[in-house]
This record gives sequence, C-alpha cells and structure tokens, in this order.
Amino acid sequence: MVITVEIPDNVAETLERIGILAKEQGYQAFAVGGCVRDWCLGISENPDIDITSEGEGIALARAAQKFFGGSLVEHTQFGTATLCMEKAPALQLDFASCRKEVYAKPAAYPKVSRGTLDEDLARRDFTINAMALCLDPDNFGVLVDPYEGLEDLKQAYLRVLHDQSFVDDPSRILRGIRFAVRFDLAWEPKTLKLINKAIESESLGLLNAGRLQKEFDLMDQEPDPSECFRVLDDLLSQGENRQVRGE
Ligand code: CTP
Repeated sequence: MVITVEIPDNVAETLERIGILAKEQGYQAFAVGGCVRDWCLGISENPDIDITSEGEGIALARAAQKFFGGSLVEHTQFGTATLCMEKAPALQLDFASCRKEVYAKPAAYPKVSRGTLDEDLARRDFTINAMALCLDPDNFGVLVDPYEGLEDLKQAYLRVLHDQSFVDDPSRILRGIRFAVRFDLAWEPKTLKLINKAIESESLGLLNAGRLQKEFDLMDQEPDPSECFRVLDDLLSQGENRQVRGE
C-alpha cells in the first residue's frame, strides 16, 4: 500500500525543488528521520530537515545552495553538508549520502560506508525514526517505512530496530527516554528488556564524558526534562534492585 504523508506547507515547495535538483543529478532524494516522524504526528515546527540520497549528498547540497542561496558548510570527511537558508522559510537542511554503519566495538564510533536507502534506514535507532519520505517529483511525499514506524507511532510504541542497538550505541538509551517522554510512548516490551540488559551491563559507562554531557544537555532542552531524568532514574534503580535480588 502506498502511503503519502503531508509535508507542511512552509517546507513543501523547498523540498519539491530539492527532489527536482536530485533528479537532475540522476538519483532520488529523501527527507529522513526526525522530520518525517514529526510530520506523521502532524508536528510542523521542526526547522531541521535531514535529506539523504543514494547519490552524492554534498553535490546535492551545492545545487541547493545555488538555487536557494544561504550559507553552506561542507564536512567533506563525512560526506555531509549543512545549508542554512537565510530567506524564509529559515530552514536548516542537512544533506548526506545514504550510508551503512558497522560497529567494531560497543560505544565506539561506527565505520561508515556508502549504502542504499534500505541500509541507511537499517542503521537507525527506533522504528519511528527509521522512516523516509520520497522527494522525487514522480513520488513526492511517498512514505518509505520498512520497520512499520508509522504503525508504532499510532500504537504509541517505542521500538528499537535490532537487538544490538543499545550495545552498539548506548546513547540510544538516553535518546529513547527523550522520545518516550516527549511523545508519551510506551516501551515495546522487548525494547525495554534490551534497555534493561544494556543498563545492567553498564553500557552507559562506555560513553565518554562529552557524549554523556551532550545527551544530558538534550534532555535538559526537552519540554519536560524532569520527567526524562525521573524515567532514567527509574531504569537505573530497577537495574540495581534486580542485581540485589540476584536476577
Ligand atoms: N540517529 C540514530 N542513532 C543515533 C542518533 C541519530 O539512529 N544515536 C538517527 C535517527 O534516525 C534520527 C536521526 O539520526 O532520527 C537524526 O538524529 P537527531 O537529529 O539527533 O534526532 P531527531 O530524530 O531529529 O530528534 P530531535 O527531534 O530530538 O532533533
């Protein structure tokens, strides 16, 4: 079944143009991640839009800057670029090429290489963040949702994509808390088990101080930071209680 998601009016025209620019370069572009999740929820305020393509992300960003103006910062070592549009709508567009990731060891930065859209979605944290919207003029707004993130949003479930996710990247424990609290989501039961297991194996301690601080700062910027810290405290103390009981 083809599902089309409504892209907010204030960004639709910009994204249509990006779809055309990508097509001119011979590939498709997609909006991906948090903005797609928010649009599915009817939230249109997100000014940061991640754009991925199976072509060269930086080349698309340059074409977009040529068309829209604005300031472009290229991160050539990562193959990404950020375009800050100065004229309305004042959007920040983050361009990347589709990529796959391999984690050599827990909490290490992953080895990244070029991949397909499917691989790019497979490397992500939660099903609700693993959706993309096609920007190609022939399929504009069509949802790509291999992990049924839309259904999880409807059921208000937070579900991880695979069993290793919190081991690979323990910051996802803290990200998960933010999304659960912000969108009032329940942990999908297996996801909760995996979080508890990761906490018990002290995965969070593998994150360096900078990454931990960044995640705590993001929690602080949530609409209800104290609820985020309460949920974290709950998860940590449940783990301690289980250890005392020898479970
Ligand atoms: N992502 C991930 N694992 C991480 C960080 C990010 O899988 N540790 C992916 C998710 O698909 C996420 C996307 O990268 O949606 C963008 O990350 P980020 O901008 O941090 O999150 P958003 O989902 O946009 O959340 P927010 O609304 O808090 O900005």
